[in-house]
Amino acid sequence: MTSALLEQSVVEAPATFRVLTGDRPTGRLHLGHYFGTLHNRIRLQRLGVEVFLIIADYQVLTDRDIAERLPEHVEDLVLDYLAVGFDPGRGTVFAHSAVPALNQLLLPFLSLVSVAELGRNPTVKDEIAHSRQAAVSGLMFTYPAHQAADILFCKANLVPVGQDQLPHLELTRTIARRFNDRYGKVFPEPAPMLSAAPLLLGTDGAKMSKSRGNAISLSATADETARLIRGAKTDADRHITYEPERRPEVSSLVLLASLCQDRDPHEVAAEIGGGGAAVLKRTVTSAVNDFLAPIRARRAELARDRGYLRQVLRVGNARANEIADTTLTEVRQAMRSVY
Ligand code: TRP
Repeated sequence: MTSALLEQSVVEAPATFRVLTGDRPTGRLHLGHYFGTLHNRIRLQRLGVEVFLIIADYQVLTDRDIAERLPEHVEDLVLDYLAVGFDPGRGTVFAHSAVPALNQLLLPFLSLVSVAELGRNPTVKDEIAHSRQAAVSGLMFTYPAHQAADILFCKANLVPVGQDQLPHLELTRTIARRFNDRYGKVFPEPAPMLSAAPLLLGTDGAKMSKSRGNAISLSATADETARLIRGAKTDADRHITYEPERRPEVSSLVLLASLCQDRDPHEVAAEIGGGGAAVLKRTVTSAVNDFLAPIRARRAELARDRGYLRQVLRVGNARANEIADTTLTEVRQAMRSVY
């Protein structure tokens, strides 16, 4: 299905879709996440789609530095989700490790994929190349199959993700198809939903990423935001235009302001015109800070209520467990392993 058609059926029949997507708990989310995926998740939820957000804590086990600070990172994700408007009354936030039945799907799933298929996954290859580990763990090697279980345990049929996750979605569809062919129909073949937002660059012109220190996190203070933007890379041409191909750094700043103000980037650029990098940066700083002010305020307020955060996760984990148990029972019956 084309993305336009998919979009149309989501709008027309939101109740026929179930969304699962999520994040690794590696730290606070930033504007790249917001415009890349968070705002779309909230939009889907408000349209009436049931949305599940998985906090993929089993996907960060191999990174020691991150694993050491897991509780803090998990809480940060819950805070970011709620601050941007995710409604836990209508959707589910849960932690992967809190749903044991989900992982019991992994063994039959692994039986349906070959080692060669796992080894060909370009995203895993890339992550292995960039990982700081000396050896590739079995967990790292098999994580696309885990991710298939993340998605299929709740029979999600729509998965909003970035381009880099498409190989995992393809494997998820393959696993669903092979399972159904072999044991009878249990799983949908979930469709990916790619973000419509153009890629936001970090303040150094590279991809926005927490580890590069070039990202504006949702929870940064107004001063930190101003400092990051002041140091952003631009170019020598004083006249500001929106030309992503020719002037990626300047255009990404223009784009950021335009996304925050929900305006056309060409219009934003034209308004700055000959004002140069100084006016551009001032414009971007106030656009970002105005946009994030209510999100930051909500986040700070929520951060004071630890009991509530824990409650959101507890309820989410319970709901995910209930669904995972039901699916596992169905899988056992389909596989005739009920004794
Ligand atoms: N691998 C995803 C990431 O790195 C996180 C993730 C885990 C996920 N399970 C998922 C995304 C299931 C979509 C669906 O961002």
